Amino acid sequence: MNNFIFVNPTKIYFGKDQLQSLGAEVARFGKKVLFAYGGGSIKRIGLYDRVVAQLAAAGLTVFELPGVEPNPRHTTVNKGAEICKREGVDVLLAVGGGSTIDACKAIAATAKYEGTDSWDLMTGKASVTDTLPIVTVLTLAATGSEMDGGCVISNVGTNDKLGIFFPNAHPRVSFLDPTNTFTVSPYQTASGSVDIMSHIFDVAYFSREDEMDMLRRIQEEVLSTVVKFAPVAVKDGNDYEARANLMWAASWALNGFLFDGIVQDAACHAIEHELSAFYDITHGHGLAILTPRWLTYVLSDETAPLIKRFGERVMGVDPSLGPMEGAKAAIAALEEFFFGTLGLKSRLSDLGIDDTHFATMAKKACGEKGTLDSFTTLTPADVEAIFRMCL
Ligand code: NZQ
Ligand code: ZN
Repeated sequence: MNNFIFVNPTKIYFGKDQLQSLGAEVARFGKKVLFAYGGGSIKRIGLYDRVVAQLAAAGLTVFELPGVEPNPRHTTVNKGAEICKREGVDVLLAVGGGSTIDACKAIAATAKYEGTDSWDLMTGKASVTDTLPIVTVLTLAATGSEMDGGCVISNVGTNDKLGIFFPNAHPRVSFLDPTNTFTVSPYQTASGSVDIMSHIFDVAYFSREDEMDMLRRIQEEVLSTVVKFAPVAVKDGNDYEARANLMWAASWALNGFLFDGIVQDAACHAIEHELSAFYDITHGHGLAILTPRWLTYVLSDETAPLIKRFGERVMGVDPSLGPMEGAKAAIAALEEFFFGTLGLKSRLSDLGIDDTHFATMAKKACGEKGTLDSFTTLTPADVEAIFRMCL
């Protein structure tokens, strides 16, 4: 079992009618705020007006950055950072899903960078020691960005999508009102739910390292929560209990509490980021297509017992099966959950993806090190084989 340090500095307002504290919370960090949001969903649900009213009542000067893309782009980050520098912005307010929050984290870092191109920071060509403070209002349960320090940014010019942790980038305050997720489409709800599960699989659960049993049990409970409530929210977007459970599960899947000092490459995430870098697909959908194929590819006498345990405790697989049969049943149950119950399309070809870039993507996924080391070690040839299983 590993040693670890746990700290999570994000203050959470969870539940209905908490937004009346937004103005005062943002004002704690200064007078000038950059308010960033996506393609318009927050206007359609009336949240934009409520946020603007809060900021006005607190006497704040507001600059807006609309149009943050899903799979946010470094050029949008550069635009936001330029506003921050020009106007002397004190604090960022991200209202949206993971893309808007991630863009704000990169803006917060670039605003403290003497250069102008955020890509220098994403690639490690330059570094920063601090970021502007960030407050978030979350509208989609998926990434955990509302309570973690990471951000993922795309460069469409080079087909790169890179993740990084900047210093002090955890949001200082996040507002989690499940009613703000009522309008998330069944497709985004399903994809977001897969993302929550994948964070647990990828960062901690499917690991070669020894893990504290308490944490593995909590991971199984969070996974079971998603298996229980994602189908409810896909069917009825206005189900408060389902939306609330998914929202809090998303935050806890990636806020550090479940990790137990495990250090491994998040293999499925590294592989999926190549898909969304090259084809701009929805992150959680890419993970849904990859995960069962990845588990099938890495299945061996060594990995089977843990896959079987997952099947038994989370997917209701028959405990009397042997390790290999149980693991196969677990993978089949996961496939049925993603592609049957949640209704996600199961093949890359369904998304218009062929094998043109597989070799390049596989090499990039394995990075400079040349391998992905998590549940098993994967080489570019392994990753390419997994892509082919997904066609
Ligand atoms: O842009 P708008 O109009 O807001 O529409 C968005 C977008 O089209 C829509 N949406 C969000 N809230 C809504 C809503 N539609 C209706 N009602 C609402 N309440 O949903 C679409 C997807 O939004 P996006 O923010 O892209 O989704 P998500 O939260 O899944 O974020 C995905 C991004 O986060 C990265 C992914 O790679 C991807 O770029 N990740 C970030 C991580 C992190 N920071 O820790 C970890 C993850 O593994 C992930 O890589
Ligand atoms: Zn993810």
